[in-house]
Amino acid sequence: MAITYYKRFRMEIDLDRAITTAVLPQSFTWVPWDEALLEPHAEVKYRSFLGEIDAYVFPCLGDRYGCRRLMNEIRRKPGFLPGATWLIACAEGYVGTVQGVMDQGPIGAIQNVGVIPTYRGLGLGKALVRRALAGFCQAGLHRAYLEVTAENAAAVQLYRHVGFRRAKTLYKAVDN
Ligand SMILES: CC(C)(COP(=O)(O)OP(=O)(O)OC[C@H]1O[C@@H](n2cnc3c(N)ncnc32)[C@H](O)[C@@H]1OP(=O)(O)O)[C@@H](O)C(=O)NCCC(=O)NCCS
Repeated sequence: MAITYYKRFRMEIDLDRAITTAVLPQSFTWVPWDEALLEPHAEVKYRSFLGEIDAYVFPCLGDRYGCRRLMNEIRRKPGFLPGATWLIACAEGYVGTVQGVMDQGPIGAIQNVGVIPTYRGLGLGKALVRRALAGFCQAGLHRAYLEVTAENAAAVQLYRHVGFRRAKTLYKAVDN
């Protein structure tokens, strides 16, 4: 069986430095975590990742049931942080999602940031990341990290813009 190796970056940020407040464009609103929102988080995740590079690296992201399972797993992690887990809504429904957990360290870990295609380029992705970072700060954390596929230029650019810097290069093996 052929194996593809995807280059990934671990990026980190110091939460003690000044971090810009998360601001949403008009007509978008924040929706805080609630148990009843597991399904909308999974659905926005699915619609955001479908056909994107990370759906090849992590096939569950390109599958509706896989996204539901993943959301359940994130929700059940001991370090799950409701304050770093947000949806963005507008008149048409939910359009963006982010989840945050506290990993051993302790350090904040951003899980999946996703904005459905029609709503990209409006600053929602950056706002989601900043809102998750604010949640980590509220939880008393001083550092946060995430992992991103190197060829996901939009995501790498977004994270750099917010202040994340590359800490390590990793390779993820995927069975084709
Ligand atoms: C990554 C993602 C969340 C960005 O959402 P978004 O709402 O469009 O993000 P923003 O509007 O806040 O910012 C996008 C930034 O990426 C830049 N960008 C967009 N497309 C780009 C590209 N092809 N190459 C480089 N930069 C790009 C924009 O110029 C902007 O940067 P700037 O603020 O320096 O101008 C969205 O594209 C997405 O959901 N992708 C699929 C899921 C995914 O890959 N998530 C990340 C997993 S690690």
